[in-house]
Amino acid sequence: MATILNERLITPSILSADFGRLDGDIATVMDAGARLIHVDVMDGHFVPNITIGPPVVRAIAPQVHDRGGALDVHLMIEHPERYVEAFVAAGADAVTVHQEACVHLHRTLAQIREAGALAGVALNPATTLETLSEARFFMDMVLVMSVNPGFGGQRFIETSLDKLRRARAFLPDAVGIEVDGGVSAANAAELAAAGANLLVAGNSVYGAPDPAAAFRELSAAIAA
Ligand code: DX5
Ligand code: ZN
Repeated sequence: MATILNERLITPSILSADFGRLDGDIATVMDAGARLIHVDVMDGHFVPNITIGPPVVRAIAPQVHDRGGALDVHLMIEHPERYVEAFVAAGADAVTVHQEACVHLHRTLAQIREAGALAGVALNPATTLETLSEARFFMDMVLVMSVNPGFGGQRFIETSLDKLRRARAFLPDAVGIEVDGGVSAANAAELAAAGANLLVAGNSVYGAPDPAAAFRELSAAIAA
């Protein structure tokens, strides 16, 4: 069954928003047409940075859902299986865990679906697609990291383009492909052509002078 993770969308990342006015920054991109909002959760262990947890997801979820949107929660944390239910209860519609953080990936994917969310798996730049050769039939999305996770505003790793092409060939058609890191108006069309249907955009949206216009420009670049 196709879900929002199979659509072709720009997914604004609130990591680059102003945490002091998240409501307004989310309204800005949703008014411009955004339907999937990317939430970066970092624990200071799996990645060096620390960001937010379930209380912030709970605080923004009503606004996103009332506007017909969905929350795409990217867990850059160790032991993500300990927090799946808390994020889903807080309003996460999709939960993505890192392959590198999951000893029992198959079990964690089933746990996410049983909790009522769509299940994604993220791959660091140095992690091969083939690590998912068994698990690929049990997930709704693969997130291809095109920077090393931990910070917004990093430079796109060019070899990610070929990884996206290989991912599209390797994964079942029902599995969506998200690319995360260094997405801009300069590479968005190429990324979509390579097989990514969800393009996370942090700095290129919220770092722009006019985030709504930046969102619309990126969306136009990937329009089929
Ligand atoms: C990085 C995060 C990204 C980040 C992308 O670890 O996973 O979602 O927000 O930021 P940009 O688009 O600025 O590279
Ligand atoms: Zn992310």
